Amino acid sequence: MSLYTEINTLTRDPIIGLTELFQKDSRATKFNLGVGVYLDKDGKVPVLESVKAARHLIDEHKDPSVYLPIRGLDVFCEHTKKLIFGAKHNNKQIITTQALGGTGALRIGAELLQRTRKIPFVVISNPSWENHRNIFESAGLKVDSYPYYDPKTNSFLLNSFLTFLKKLPKHTVVVLHANCHNPTGIDPSQEEWTEILDTIQRSDLVPFFDLAYQGFKHSLGQDSSVIKSFLEFDKPFLVANSFSKNFSLYGERVGALSVFTSSSDESARIQSHLKNVIRGLYSTPPTYGQKIVGEILSNDNLHTIWKSEIESMRTRIIEVRRLLVKTFEEQGLDKFSFIRNQHGMFSFSGLRKNHAFLLREKFGVYILDSGRICIAALNDKNLDYVANAISEVVQTEDIKTNSA
Ligand code: LMR
Repeated sequence: MSLYTEINTLTRDPIIGLTELFQKDSRATKFNLGVGVYLDKDGKVPVLESVKAARHLIDEHKDPSVYLPIRGLDVFCEHTKKLIFGAKHNNKQIITTQALGGTGALRIGAELLQRTRKIPFVVISNPSWENHRNIFESAGLKVDSYPYYDPKTNSFLLNSFLTFLKKLPKHTVVVLHANCHNPTGIDPSQEEWTEILDTIQRSDLVPFFDLAYQGFKHSLGQDSSVIKSFLEFDKPFLVANSFSKNFSLYGERVGALSVFTSSSDESARIQSHLKNVIRGLYSTPPTYGQKIVGEILSNDNLHTIWKSEIESMRTRIIEVRRLLVKTFEEQGLDKFSFIRNQHGMFSFSGLRKNHAFLLREKFGVYILDSGRICIAALNDKNLDYVANAISEVVQTEDIKTNSA
């Protein structure tokens, strides 16, 4: 009798598992619009000039590979804080710790929250990033979802969300996408954010901001404005930020967790627990990614280059959205015009699992079963092909539905 008889096969991961399928696909014509990775106009993962220059500087130092402090490098942590909190970065109530990407930051934050023994549950948006539930449940927390998106109108459900928030017990953790909501690409307006944050603070809920796309919506500074606004309430909150997308450093797993505490005594206690959580999970953080990010954020020249590189990525995505909608309209498909108004890498297209299956099987076009498409993987060379594939699949399925 094997030890593992109770271990059944789980379904593939909806995002990374799809990339694994994509990699096994031997067809010459295939496009991965599943995973959230920015590809340049030639369909390649860019190596940013700022990153190349930082790597050069780091390699010149020829530092030995030592264990880093559990919290990570000071230069990395301090500049990450500055990037997120701007003028308020010196606030002693914020503690920032290096983490293994945004996922690692969410997980160590979840572990910390679990240790408070005060969290009734965590709520995530419906729909949300496919990994949110897994991360919080893996830390032993209960997860529910809040109304967020109306697929009929492709819009944000402000009133249902506010009503839901008002009924939540104190200390419920509310996971919020700071910008470029994943998967819908639909964010609350500034006025709507004001109402949401105000409701959260009045009800003593705990926001946990997921900031994975800083710089992909408006600008680096503006894209963390929601977090800066919440800081004014002087109430507990957490931020998990990722540098995977905005530095094109996916494989380095570099991100950070910032926790807003109520005093320096509390900061010291929290810091000691974060260290203990990290030590138990992976001991100490890896060096290379945080050295690159730390080098760029602390060097004015590299920082300026990096800023303009993010701007180019952002502008290209906006242009791709425009072109995609135009191509659909030329094909007589005007039901996709909402794609133009979404923000960030993704479009929640309204396509369903059967569409995703047909796109993959017939055309080698990989999108998530939820209908999420990574717009940032389109370019001049594949846009027409993908748009034609989607049109054909949509029309075939519409005919089937009408004749059923
Ligand atoms: C995504 O949403 O596709 C990315 O954040 C990659 C991931 O880890 O899921």
